[in-house]
Amino acid sequence: SPNIETYGRSIYWYCGWYGAIDSIVGAMLAQKYFKARPADVLVATFPKSGTTWIKALVFATLNRGSDLINYHQFLESHNPHQCCPFLEFEIYSRNIEAVPDLSKFPDPRLFSTHLPFQSLPTSVIDSGCRVVYVGRNPKDNFVSSWHYFNKISREAEPLEEAFDCFCKGLNIYGPYWEHVLSYWKAHVERPQHVLFLKYEELKAEPVAQLKRLAEFLGCPFSEGEEKEGVIEDIIRLCSIENLANLEVNKIGTVNFTASTVKGSNFFRRGVVGDWKNHLTPEMVGQLDKITEQKFQGSGLSF
Ligand code: A3P
Repeated sequence: SPNIETYGRSIYWYCGWYGAIDSIVGAMLAQKYFKARPADVLVATFPKSGTTWIKALVFATLNRGSDLINYHQFLESHNPHQCCPFLEFEIYSRNIEAVPDLSKFPDPRLFSTHLPFQSLPTSVIDSGCRVVYVGRNPKDNFVSSWHYFNKISREAEPLEEAFDCFCKGLNIYGPYWEHVLSYWKAHVERPQHVLFLKYEELKAEPVAQLKRLAEFLGCPFSEGEEKEGVIEDIIRLCSIENLANLEVNKIGTVNFTASTVKGSNFFRRGVVGDWKNHLTPEMVGQLDKITEQKFQGSGLSF
């Protein structure tokens, strides 16, 4: 039970009071009003686990046969966040009157969330719609968060203090471990509805993972597409090297309800193991120990 001052400070550090309140109210409104449809796709992540990347990959994979949307053109002229709005701070926020008429969105509707599985609107579970989760190893996740929030915050947070908050689970979306485990368990129980991808596996074997994603989404790549190199083309389009260098992401911004973020802030190094450049052996030991305890018996590891 963290004391409220520490907790409050962590939330403030995370997204400012304004953003925090917006997300909390947005989550409650989403729980109350969001009506999922079976054809919906929900991208879910703990922040800084590869949300931007998976949004681009899901959008391209789903729309590759569409006559209405040219996914290449779209991703070359928009930040991936613009193809897949967050339920709790874009679709729903303080002003319920401002919610667009979601029933008019054509199938498949694509949404995203940072909420843990148990906090999702119940209609997501009842409708049987598809949920795509990406998990990332806790050490890189922490380092990535620290860099990101130092970029967007007014005051820099010392690494040691941020580390302490992370280990205590002080995050607006709850502790990292419980978040990842909530989706892992949902995936084990309902693999046809919840796909669990790992950032590290996406990096190591993108072709195999993209095929997994397409199959899960009900639009597997045909032999013809494989021969034409469609899979490799999507991987290239959505790679950090390509996206980070697009003009729209270099100079553009993304408007969330409570904040505007520079598009370039979503792209940093995009590698596995950057924690080695930041964490002391003591920090590594502490994080590994917590992770081992929390994941024990779950079958999940990074
Ligand atoms: P690093 O800070 O380790 O570089 P999120 O999208 O959830 O906010 O996560 C951001 C992290 O994903 C950052 O990690 C960022 O560099 C990385 N990232 C962004 N786009 C990516 C892409 N297309 N491919 C791989 N990693 C990407």
